[in-house]
Amino acid sequence: MPPSNKSALIHAAAQARHAAVAPYSRFLVGAALLTKQGEIISGANVESASYGLTCCAERVALFKALTDGKKDFVAVAVVTRVPGGALPCGACRQLLAEYAPTAKVYVADSAAPKKIRTFTVTGLLPEAFRGAALSAVRRR
Ligand code: THU
Repeated sequence: MPPSNKSALIHAAAQARHAAVAPYSRFLVGAALLTKQGEIISGANVESASYGLTCCAERVALFKALTDGKKDFVAVAVVTRVPGGALPCGACRQLLAEYAPTAKVYVADSAAPKKIRTFTVTGLLPEAFRGAALSAVRRR
């Protein structure tokens, strides 16, 4: 991916981060997905008073994109204010493995957005679980 696309995606995630609803942790996370068609769909984390119901930025972005009919994700960017940026949690890795298996994962600290670390979804979750139900969904 050209460096300009990469930084545009990081920028979108950084912007989305400002919309995080994180009154409990105050840890704001922004995520942005890029489709093969060049569309960007972003999201931020949303927390609940019942902590376990919290939804990470990556999953919010993914659920927004999927329910808007988007697919063919080529990259996802995640931006937080932590040195080096934070990598997707295990739950998000599973969802990315299912719906964005070939995507690159770009991670950055919001205070140093030019320092982008690059991973792959398969690298972050090798041998991911793929249920029989998923192939049925794909066939529809
Ligand atoms: N969080 C994300 O949004 N993405 C991650 O990959 C890890 C964690 C959120 C969940 C929670 O709102 C806050 O960060 C602290 O864990």
